[in-house]
Amino acid sequence: METAHRYRASAEEAARGASPRYEEFALGVAEDRDVLAFLSTLPELKRQPNLLFAAVKYLAGVPPDYGAFHDFVIGHMDELRQLMRTRSTQTNEPGRCAVLLPLLASLRQPIALLEVGAAAGLCLLCDRYGYDYEGHRVGPADAPVVFPCNPIGSVPLPERVPRVVWRCGVDLDPLDVTDPDTAAWLTLSCGQITPIVRSGYKRPSASRRWMPHRCLLGTSSERSSRSRRAPRPTPPWCFSIRP
Ligand SMILES: C[S@@+](CC[C@H](N)C(=O)[O-])C[C@H]1O[C@@H](n2cnc3c(N)ncnc32)[C@H](O)[C@@H]1O
Repeated sequence: METAHRYRASAEEAARGASPRYEEFALGVAEDRDVLAFLSTLPELKRQPNLLFAAVKYLAGVPPDYGAFHDFVIGHMDELRQLMRTRSTQTNEPGRCAVLLPLLASLRQPIALLEVGAAAGLCLLCDRYGYDYEGHRVGPADAPVVFPCNPIGSVPLPERVPRVVWRCGVDLDPLDVTDPDTAAWLTLSCGQITPIVRSGYKRPSASRRWMPHRCLLGTSSERSSRSRRAPRPTPPWCFSIRP
């Protein structure tokens, strides 16, 4: 898709009604010959609106209006190009654990978990978060985040989080959330993980406590070889969330 058209579509289909500022920026880029010329110096896959907006936000925060956005892009093309070439809009959304929890807690305990497409592995830490199912509170009292969730229908709400004895994530592009730049970048693209990631990158010792597993380079085809490393007799439950 032509870049200007892509930005106009992003303004009309993604940002409108959700983010007036990003709608303004996306419409601005669609009409801005200078910024479009800058984008044309990047590979097509790296011209995405979300990637440009996240890169500007990472370097400068959110500009107050399109004029300031334009000036920043034109004044910092080399930095932006470098960032956009090396980063992606890959996300990790641990709030999804609220949906997984009833199922994981219903399995025979303890359990081992293998996630394919784990990104930074934040969904593997489902036993460390708090959950609030419309007043039914589950999870450790000192959880760094509590995810609210409105169950629909007769969901069997767990009394406690699962007992996880082993966890492993594989990903085509695993993220190390203990790396400050990666953590800062991830925080831009998934607002809800801010408290977890922030505690990790501001206090490295805390991040080690929170990230006791590893996310390894690999694809879904490596499920069985990784599974064999789980402690016996607890064969891992494999899950994958790749929206
Ligand atoms: C949208 S992120 C979701 C991360 C996490 N599962 C979550 O729900 O927050 C999708 C992840 O899947 C990874 N991925 C996509 N295809 C894959 C494959 N065939 N094998 C391993 N990882 C894959 C991507 O690199 C990315 O990190």
